[in-house]
Amino acid sequence: MSKLIDGRAIGEKVYVDLRHEIAELKSRGLTPGLAVVLVGDNPASRAYVRSKDKISRELGLHSVKLELPASTSQSELLARVEELNRDPAIHGILVQSPPPKQIDEAAIVRALDPRKDVDGFHPLNVAKLALEDPTGFVPCTPLGVLRLLRESEIDISGAHAVVLGRSMIVGKPLALLLMQKGTDATVTIVHSRTRDLSAITRSADILIAAIGQPNFVKAAHVREGVVIVDVGINRVEDATNERGYRLVGDVAFDEVAEKASSITPVPGGVGPMTIAMLMSNTVKACRGLCSGGCP
Ligand code: GUN
Repeated sequence: MSKLIDGRAIGEKVYVDLRHEIAELKSRGLTPGLAVVLVGDNPASRAYVRSKDKISRELGLHSVKLELPASTSQSELLARVEELNRDPAIHGILVQSPPPKQIDEAAIVRALDPRKDVDGFHPLNVAKLALEDPTGFVPCTPLGVLRLLRESEIDISGAHAVVLGRSMIVGKPLALLLMQKGTDATVTIVHSRTRDLSAITRSADILIAAIGQPNFVKAAHVREGVVIVDVGINRVEDATNERGYRLVGDVAFDEVAEKASSITPVPGGVGPMTIAMLMSNTVKACRGLCSGGCP
Protein backbone atom coordinates (compact mmCIF):
# COMPACT_ATOMS: atom_id res chain seq x y z
CA MET A 1 0.00 0.00 0.00
CA SER A 2 1.30 3.44 -0.87
CA LYS A 3 2.17 6.29 1.46
CA LEU A 4 -0.28 9.19 1.44
CA ILE A 5 1.26 12.63 0.86
CA ASP A 6 -0.70 14.91 3.21
CA GLY A 7 -1.00 18.38 1.65
CA ARG A 8 -2.88 19.77 4.64
CA ALA A 9 -0.12 18.81 7.09
CA ILE A 10 2.65 20.09 4.78
CA GLY A 11 0.65 23.29 4.17
CA GLU A 12 0.48 23.80 7.96
CA LYS A 13 4.30 23.65 8.11
CA VAL A 14 4.42 26.42 5.49
CA TYR A 15 2.01 28.52 7.59
CA VAL A 16 4.15 28.10 10.73
CA ASP A 17 7.09 29.71 8.87
CA LEU A 18 4.87 32.35 7.25
CA ARG A 19 3.36 33.40 10.59
CA HIS A 20 6.86 34.21 11.85
CA GLU A 21 7.68 36.17 8.69
CA ILE A 22 4.40 38.10 8.85
CA ALA A 23 4.95 38.94 12.55
CA GLU A 24 8.43 40.24 11.71
CA LEU A 25 7.05 42.41 8.86
CA LYS A 26 4.28 43.73 11.11
CA SER A 27 6.83 44.66 13.78
CA ARG A 28 8.28 46.98 11.10
CA GLY A 29 4.83 48.42 10.34
CA LEU A 30 4.29 46.36 7.17
CA THR A 31 1.17 44.27 6.57
CA PRO A 32 1.25 42.20 3.38
CA GLY A 33 -1.90 42.91 1.33
CA LEU A 34 -3.57 40.54 -1.14
CA ALA A 35 -6.38 41.43 -3.56
CA VAL A 36 -8.31 38.56 -5.13
CA VAL A 37 -10.57 39.51 -8.03
CA LEU A 38 -13.45 37.28 -9.13
CA VAL A 39 -15.45 38.14 -12.24
CA GLY A 40 -18.74 36.25 -12.56
CA ASP A 41 -20.22 33.45 -10.49
CA ASN A 42 -18.47 30.21 -11.44
CA PRO A 43 -19.19 28.11 -8.31
CA ALA A 44 -15.75 26.46 -8.17
CA SER A 45 -13.98 29.82 -8.62
CA ARG A 46 -16.20 31.36 -5.95
CA ALA A 47 -15.21 28.59 -3.52
CA TYR A 48 -11.47 29.07 -4.25
CA VAL A 49 -11.71 32.84 -3.80
CA ARG A 50 -13.55 32.37 -0.50
CA SER A 51 -10.78 30.07 0.79
CA LYS A 52 -8.02 32.44 -0.31
CA ASP A 53 -9.71 35.36 1.47
CA LYS A 54 -10.38 33.31 4.63
CA ILE A 55 -6.80 32.07 4.93
CA SER A 56 -5.33 35.54 4.24
CA ARG A 57 -7.42 36.91 7.08
CA GLU A 58 -6.47 34.06 9.43
CA LEU A 59 -2.80 34.85 8.78
CA GLY A 60 -3.39 38.54 9.54
CA LEU A 61 -2.86 39.78 5.99
CA HIS A 62 -4.75 42.75 4.59
CA SER A 63 -7.23 40.91 2.34
CA VAL A 64 -9.40 42.49 -0.34
CA LYS A 65 -11.96 40.34 -2.13
CA LEU A 66 -13.36 42.05 -5.22
CA GLU A 67 -16.42 40.33 -6.67
CA LEU A 68 -17.47 41.79 -10.02
CA PRO A 69 -20.56 40.87 -12.06
CA ALA A 70 -20.30 38.42 -14.98
CA SER A 71 -21.15 41.34 -17.31
CA THR A 72 -17.99 43.29 -16.35
CA SER A 73 -16.29 44.70 -19.45
CA GLN A 74 -12.62 44.44 -20.34
CA SER A 75 -12.09 48.17 -19.73
CA GLU A 76 -13.87 48.04 -16.33
CA LEU A 77 -11.67 45.13 -15.23
CA LEU A 78 -8.53 46.85 -16.54
CA ALA A 79 -9.45 49.96 -14.55
CA ARG A 80 -9.82 47.88 -11.36
CA VAL A 81 -6.47 46.18 -11.94
CA GLU A 82 -4.80 49.55 -12.48
CA GLU A 83 -6.32 50.85 -9.22
CA LEU A 84 -4.89 47.84 -7.39
CA ASN A 85 -1.50 48.35 -9.08
CA ARG A 86 -1.44 51.86 -7.60
CA ASP A 87 -2.75 50.89 -4.14
CA PRO A 88 0.20 50.91 -1.69
CA ALA A 89 -1.66 48.63 0.77
CA ILE A 90 -1.86 45.87 -1.87
CA HIS A 91 1.27 43.84 -2.63
CA GLY A 92 -0.28 40.86 -4.42
CA ILE A 93 -3.06 40.75 -7.03
CA LEU A 94 -4.77 37.61 -8.33
CA VAL A 95 -7.50 37.61 -10.98
CA GLN A 96 -9.25 34.26 -10.71
CA SER A 97 -9.15 32.18 -13.88
CA PRO A 98 -11.13 31.44 -16.02
CA PRO A 99 -12.87 34.82 -16.52
CA PRO A 100 -16.08 35.20 -18.56
CA LYS A 101 -15.80 35.05 -22.38
CA GLN A 102 -15.75 38.81 -23.06
CA ILE A 103 -12.53 39.16 -21.03
CA ASP A 104 -9.16 38.94 -22.79
CA GLU A 105 -7.28 37.21 -19.98
CA ALA A 106 -3.83 37.63 -21.54
CA ALA A 107 -4.31 41.40 -21.73
CA ILE A 108 -5.41 41.52 -18.08
CA VAL A 109 -2.34 39.56 -17.03
CA ARG A 110 -0.06 41.92 -18.99
CA ALA A 111 -1.70 44.89 -17.24
CA LEU A 112 -0.70 43.61 -13.79
CA ASP A 113 2.31 45.19 -12.12
CA PRO A 114 4.71 42.21 -12.40
CA ARG A 115 5.97 42.97 -8.88
CA LYS A 116 2.41 42.27 -7.62
CA ASP A 117 1.77 39.26 -9.89
CA VAL A 118 1.61 36.61 -7.15
CA ASP A 119 0.17 34.12 -9.68
CA GLY A 120 3.38 34.30 -11.75
CA PHE A 121 1.39 34.64 -14.99
CA HIS A 122 2.87 37.95 -16.29
CA PRO A 123 5.29 37.47 -19.25
CA LEU A 124 8.14 38.96 -17.18
CA ASN A 125 7.63 36.35 -14.46
CA VAL A 126 7.29 33.54 -17.02
CA ALA A 127 10.62 34.66 -18.50
CA LYS A 128 12.23 34.86 -15.06
CA LEU A 129 11.19 31.27 -14.34
CA ALA A 130 12.72 30.10 -17.64
CA LEU A 131 15.87 32.10 -16.84
CA GLU A 132 16.01 30.67 -13.28
CA ASP A 133 15.93 34.22 -11.90
CA PRO A 134 14.74 33.91 -8.27
CA THR A 135 13.37 37.48 -8.14
CA GLY A 136 10.34 36.40 -10.21
CA PHE A 137 7.07 34.83 -9.09
CA VAL A 138 6.42 31.15 -9.82
CA PRO A 139 2.78 30.00 -10.24
CA CYS A 140 1.37 28.69 -6.96
CA THR A 141 0.30 25.18 -7.97
CA PRO A 142 3.68 24.14 -9.47
CA LEU A 143 5.42 25.70 -6.48
CA GLY A 144 3.14 23.70 -4.18
CA VAL A 145 3.81 20.46 -6.06
CA LEU A 146 7.57 20.94 -5.74
CA ARG A 147 7.24 21.69 -2.02
CA LEU A 148 5.13 18.54 -1.52
CA LEU A 149 7.78 16.41 -3.23
CA ARG A 150 10.64 18.01 -1.27
CA GLU A 151 8.89 17.76 2.12
CA SER A 152 8.07 14.11 1.38
CA GLU A 153 11.76 13.49 0.69
CA ILE A 154 11.10 12.19 -2.81
CA ASP A 155 14.36 11.81 -4.74
CA ILE A 156 13.82 14.20 -7.66
CA SER A 157 17.38 14.58 -8.95
CA GLY A 158 17.85 12.48 -12.09
CA ALA A 159 14.33 11.01 -11.81
CA HIS A 160 12.07 10.83 -14.85
CA ALA A 161 9.20 13.22 -14.08
CA VAL A 162 6.28 12.98 -16.51
CA VAL A 163 3.89 15.93 -16.46
CA LEU A 164 0.47 15.20 -17.89
CA GLY A 165 -0.87 18.52 -19.23
CA ARG A 166 0.71 21.61 -20.82
CA SER A 167 -1.28 24.51 -19.29
CA MET A 168 0.31 27.85 -18.48
CA ILE A 169 -1.01 27.52 -14.89
CA VAL A 170 0.45 24.09 -14.12
CA GLY A 171 2.09 21.90 -16.81
CA LYS A 172 4.56 24.29 -18.46
CA PRO A 173 5.80 26.11 -15.34
CA LEU A 174 6.02 22.81 -13.44
CA ALA A 175 8.20 21.29 -16.17
CA LEU A 176 10.52 24.32 -15.98
CA LEU A 177 10.72 24.10 -12.17
CA LEU A 178 11.45 20.37 -12.13
CA MET A 179 14.27 20.65 -14.68
CA GLN A 180 15.94 23.65 -12.97
CA LYS A 181 19.50 23.29 -11.75
CA GLY A 182 19.36 22.01 -8.19
CA THR A 183 16.11 20.11 -8.80
CA ASP A 184 17.45 18.22 -11.80
CA ALA A 185 14.59 15.99 -12.91
CA THR A 186 14.50 14.65 -16.45
CA VAL A 187 11.16 15.98 -17.63
CA THR A 188 8.69 14.84 -20.28
CA ILE A 189 5.41 16.65 -20.93
CA VAL A 190 2.59 14.58 -22.40
CA HIS A 191 -0.78 15.93 -23.56
CA SER A 192 -3.94 15.11 -25.48
CA ARG A 193 -2.09 14.66 -28.80
CA THR A 194 0.76 12.51 -27.46
CA ARG A 195 1.17 9.17 -29.26
CA ASP A 196 1.30 6.06 -27.07
CA LEU A 197 0.86 8.13 -23.94
CA SER A 198 0.83 5.18 -21.57
CA ALA A 199 4.24 3.92 -22.81
CA ILE A 200 5.65 7.25 -21.62
CA THR A 201 3.70 7.50 -18.36
CA ARG A 202 4.75 3.91 -17.52
CA SER A 203 8.39 5.03 -17.62
CA ALA A 204 7.77 7.79 -15.05
CA ASP A 205 9.41 7.72 -11.62
CA ILE A 206 7.21 10.70 -10.73
CA LEU A 207 3.89 11.25 -12.53
CA ILE A 208 2.08 14.56 -12.15
CA ALA A 209 -1.46 14.64 -13.53
CA ALA A 210 -2.84 18.06 -14.48
CA ILE A 211 -5.24 17.59 -17.37
CA GLY A 212 -8.60 18.28 -15.72
CA GLN A 213 -10.18 14.93 -16.64
CA PRO A 214 -11.67 12.94 -13.76
CA ASN A 215 -9.99 9.57 -13.10
CA PHE A 216 -7.97 9.73 -16.36
CA VAL A 217 -4.85 7.98 -15.01
CA LYS A 218 -5.50 4.27 -14.50
CA ALA A 219 -3.36 1.48 -13.05
CA ALA A 220 -2.28 0.52 -16.61
CA HIS A 221 -0.67 3.98 -17.04
CA VAL A 222 1.86 3.51 -14.22
CA ARG A 223 4.59 1.20 -13.04
CA GLU A 224 5.07 -0.27 -9.54
CA GLY A 225 6.71 2.21 -7.14
CA VAL A 226 5.80 5.40 -9.01
CA VAL A 227 5.22 8.65 -7.07
CA ILE A 228 1.87 10.19 -8.03
CA VAL A 229 0.91 13.85 -7.67
CA ASP A 230 -2.70 14.54 -8.63
CA VAL A 231 -3.36 18.20 -9.44
CA GLY A 232 -6.91 17.61 -10.72
CA ILE A 233 -9.88 18.91 -8.75
CA ASN A 234 -12.97 17.84 -10.71
CA ARG A 235 -16.57 18.09 -9.57
CA VAL A 236 -18.52 14.96 -10.52
CA GLU A 237 -22.23 14.52 -9.90
CA ASP A 238 -23.05 12.45 -6.84
CA ALA A 239 -26.66 12.24 -5.68
CA THR A 240 -25.57 10.55 -2.42
CA ASN A 241 -23.61 13.66 -1.44
CA GLU A 242 -25.56 16.50 0.19
CA ARG A 243 -23.89 19.05 -2.16
CA GLY A 244 -24.92 16.97 -5.21
CA TYR A 245 -21.31 16.48 -6.28
CA ARG A 246 -18.00 15.16 -5.00
CA LEU A 247 -14.42 16.09 -5.82
CA VAL A 248 -12.21 13.65 -7.70
CA GLY A 249 -8.73 14.02 -9.12
CA ASP A 250 -7.28 13.23 -12.54
CA VAL A 251 -6.10 9.89 -11.11
CA ALA A 252 -8.27 6.83 -10.42
CA PHE A 253 -7.08 6.83 -6.83
CA ASP A 254 -7.88 3.33 -5.55
CA GLU A 255 -6.38 1.34 -8.42
CA VAL A 256 -3.32 3.59 -8.85
CA ALA A 257 -2.61 3.70 -5.09
CA GLU A 258 -2.16 -0.10 -5.22
CA LYS A 259 0.96 0.40 -7.36
CA ALA A 260 2.31 3.77 -6.22
CA SER A 261 4.98 4.21 -3.53
CA SER A 262 3.48 7.63 -2.61
CA ILE A 263 0.35 9.43 -3.78
CA THR A 264 -1.52 12.67 -3.08
CA PRO A 265 -5.24 12.46 -2.24
CA VAL A 266 -7.98 14.70 -3.67
CA PRO A 267 -9.03 16.68 -1.75
CA GLY A 268 -6.23 17.28 0.76
CA GLY A 269 -3.19 16.96 -1.53
CA VAL A 270 -2.15 19.71 -3.93
CA GLY A 271 -5.13 22.04 -3.24
CA PRO A 272 -4.06 23.22 0.24
CA MET A 273 -0.50 23.72 -1.03
CA THR A 274 -1.63 26.05 -3.82
CA ILE A 275 -3.19 28.40 -1.29
CA ALA A 276 -0.17 28.16 1.03
CA MET A 277 2.12 29.14 -1.88
CA LEU A 278 -0.15 32.08 -2.73
CA MET A 279 0.31 33.37 0.82
CA SER A 280 4.06 32.80 0.53
CA ASN A 281 4.20 34.71 -2.77
CA THR A 282 2.24 37.58 -1.19
CA VAL A 283 4.76 37.86 1.65
CA LYS A 284 7.57 37.77 -0.95
CA ALA A 285 5.82 40.55 -2.94
CA CYS A 286 5.53 42.68 0.19
CA ARG A 287 9.23 42.23 0.92
CA GLY A 288 10.12 43.06 -2.70
CA LEU A 289 7.95 46.18 -2.92
CA CYS A 290 8.85 47.44 0.54
CA SER A 291 12.60 46.74 0.47
CA GLY A 292 13.23 50.48 0.23
CA GLY A 293 10.43 51.27 2.73
CA CYS A 294 6.68 51.31 2.21
CA PRO A 295 4.20 53.96 3.30
N1 GUN B 1 -7.75 29.08 -11.47
C1 GUN B 1 -7.32 27.83 -11.14
N2 GUN B 1 -6.09 27.91 -10.57
C2 GUN B 1 -5.76 29.21 -10.54
C3 GUN B 1 -4.60 29.91 -10.07
O1 GUN B 1 -3.62 29.35 -9.57
N3 GUN B 1 -4.65 31.28 -10.21
C4 GUN B 1 -5.69 31.93 -10.77
N4 GUN B 1 -5.63 33.26 -10.89
N5 GUN B 1 -6.77 31.30 -11.23
C5 GUN B 1 -6.79 29.95 -11.10
